[in-house]
Amino acid sequence: MIKVEQLTKKYPGVTAISDLSFEVGKGEIVGFLGPNGAGKSTTMRILSSFMPATSGRASIAGHDVFSDSLRARMHLGYLPESVPLYGDMRVSEYLRYRGSLKGLSGKKLRNRVEVVKELCSVKDVENQLIATLSKGYRQRVGLAEALVHEPDLLILDEPTIGLDPNQIRQVRELIKSLGERHTILLSTHILSEVEMTCSRVIIIHRGKIEASDTPENLVGQIRTSGTVKVEAKTGSDDPVQMIEKIPGVKNVSVNMEDGWQQCSIRVEANSDLREAIFRLAIARHWVVRELTQERATLEDVFVELTQADD
Ligand SMILES: Nc1ncnc2c1ncn2[C@@H]1O[C@H](COP(=O)(O)OP(=O)(O)OP(=O)(O)O)[C@@H](O)[C@H]1O
Ligand SMILES: [Mg+2]
Repeated sequence: MIKVEQLTKKYPGVTAISDLSFEVGKGEIVGFLGPNGAGKSTTMRILSSFMPATSGRASIAGHDVFSDSLRARMHLGYLPESVPLYGDMRVSEYLRYRGSLKGLSGKKLRNRVEVVKELCSVKDVENQLIATLSKGYRQRVGLAEALVHEPDLLILDEPTIGLDPNQIRQVRELIKSLGERHTILLSTHILSEVEMTCSRVIIIHRGKIEASDTPENLVGQIRTSGTVKVEAKTGSDDPVQMIEKIPGVKNVSVNMEDGWQQCSIRVEANSDLREAIFRLAIARHWVVRELTQERATLEDVFVELTQADD
């Protein structure tokens, strides 16, 4: 659905992206991640034919985004980083206007405007001036605009930025449901959101791709180790000394609270030592009230890949 080949974009004095290549297949929901200034918005702007690349190629549904941009854009709904809405138009009027620019007319146009208003929950503000909308509602109107011509691909640049937690949840659910019928490329800094919605993640750093895989595989591959938490009454035993003897344990720190030893155990990556710790506790007659493993998260992956060489 998206094909990017050796794409490079240079601004005066800055190479925003260099030699970027990736593909997004039909039906995928791909999270496009990277630190501030990594080149996410630049890539998305090129894909939406908003500006040309310096070199390399990009196509959408087989249409070159530069030489065949009209046809490429028929397949694409784009939500830019800062949504450019017309403040002095009313919501319905704006969506009709944008729909007509995208080639819709008559009954089809009226119909699609109604559908996207429902879908993006902006029906209750349909007659309001856009300038008077709250940020969250503007974001939803932007999303409705991106969807109005029924594109099969959505490119969303930080769709939940500036939204409150309830709205973030609503937009996340909306994206998930859109993912059933659309291909989606989505940039965000909320990594838990990516873990919940995306089937694949592309991480870019300084204009280059650092990783491209499922969230699960990325989390499984990193060097960052997990942590096991144990809370126990250990009598006269020194839990640190005993737990440290278990193979796979890197280090143990302990904190005493109300007679309970709270141990935080760093373990080697991809190991689960809960069973060994449980057996030790039984053998030593410890009273255990918590035994949990905290896994590495996508945030750990992100930090490892984009901070390592700073
Ligand atoms: N119009 C421009 N002129 C000059 N430099 C630019 C322009 N737009 C972006 N840049 C630079 O290109 C680099 C990539 O910017 P880009 O906006 O693509 O990053 P991003 O990954 O979207 O970051 P963020 O997470 O902050 O949105 C940055 O160094 C930025 O300063
Ligand atoms: Mg950006």
